[in-house]
Amino acid sequence: MKQTDNTPKVGIVMGSDSDLPVMEETAAILKKFNIPFEMTIASAHRTPKRAAEFASSARERGIKIIIAGAGHAAHLAGAMAAHTSLPIIGVPIDSSCLQGIDALFSTVQMPPGIPVATVAIGKPGARNAGILAAQILALSDPGLEEKLEIFKKEMAEQVEQKAKKLQF
Ligand code: RP5
Repeated sequence: MKQTDNTPKVGIVMGSDSDLPVMEETAAILKKFNIPFEMTIASAHRTPKRAAEFASSARERGIKIIIAGAGHAAHLAGAMAAHTSLPIIGVPIDSSCLQGIDALFSTVQMPPGIPVATVAIGKPGARNAGILAAQILALSDPGLEEKLEIFKKEMAEQVEQKAKKLQF
């Protein structure tokens, strides 16, 4: 496949449209860093073939990293890892009565040989998944590395300002 600057580099996949409010955090970060991405729904349990096809064709589409978010007995990130050797970031989603603890364990406890880089439960994890993907891509993109440095400095400045406001 011919790759352009607009070819998606990150594939965001989620188990259900009900996961979208969480996974939008990932999309917002990728947009902030100007990283082209694609986003879709595929379920490891409800549409296993679709999930497998998404993962196994990802490299061919120009995808470098897959970010998979799912809740309940969340096997989506693991299913992605089973079908590609691209790096997989898993976002456990707090959509069940167990508030994401189930999804965290399902996502993080991968057997040896099939890793999934698992981030925190819910929106903070989804945000971090986007930042982690940016950091991986920045290994071969000095412009992106510079943006990440600025992002970190801005965060530190915000903390300094908040600390000053608290001073008597
Ligand atoms: C999981 O089941 C999805 O990732 C979602 O978090 C959860 C509930 O899905 P819906 O019943 O809302 O479609 O597979």
